[in-house]
Amino acid sequence: MSIPTPHIECNDSNIIAKTVLMPGDPLRAKFIADTYLEDVVQFNHVRNMFGFTGTYKGKRISVMGSGMGMPSIGIYSFELYKFYGVENIIRIGSCGAYTNDLKLYDVILVDEAWSQSTYAKVQNGYDKDVIEANPEINDRIAKHAEELNIPIVRGRIHSSDVFYADDPNSYKSYRDNHGCIAAEMESFALFANAKVLGKKAACLLTVSDSIVTHEETTSEERQNAFTKMMEIALEFAE
Ligand code: ADE
Repeated sequence: MSIPTPHIECNDSNIIAKTVLMPGDPLRAKFIADTYLEDVVQFNHVRNMFGFTGTYKGKRISVMGSGMGMPSIGIYSFELYKFYGVENIIRIGSCGAYTNDLKLYDVILVDEAWSQSTYAKVQNGYDKDVIEANPEINDRIAKHAEELNIPIVRGRIHSSDVFYADDPNSYKSYRDNHGCIAAEMESFALFANAKVLGKKAACLLTVSDSIVTHEETTSEERQNAFTKMMEIALEFAE
């Protein structure tokens, strides 16, 4: 296969930067481009999964929506890594807290993703249920967060295929037996693609709801509060 790929219409790989930030929501990608980037070029409209490249503090970076769930981020991250020369993808997403220690808007740096998903097994035969984020990128993220004075919590998260679980207590097993502090739905597939393609991936999450207390943020609140993790990740512009 060559470019353009089935899901990204860009026909010049130089237009996409080496580092791509990936929120789930393509409108959040547009928000980042509108709010933080200069000299913005839009490189993807296919399925409204908007992708942009611009400069942040004079350095290049791209931002593109991933959609929700592992099949979706699996497609976009694979095409970016394999066909567009992307080296680093940093997912910037939301998560639901599995512990009382986590509060709404806390920022989590994912050390590893645990999942029951068959994504990695089907993709490349990987048959374990944990995949690590890239430690080098994570060290840099932790350093940027410290410099920006943004507290982060590090830990293992649950990449789930299910948002609406039938058993409201099922999270207790993911927390108590598997050590997961929060749920999201994409990192495991992103990390699997990075691993098989020899690329780098990381994930920053902001707590948008609590699966323990059922507190949740409104979409308007999320738009503003999620800027902390965006600002950490934007430091990867180069
Ligand atoms: N992303 C944000 N909140 C979530 C939740 N409760 N479960 C899975 N993914 C999420």
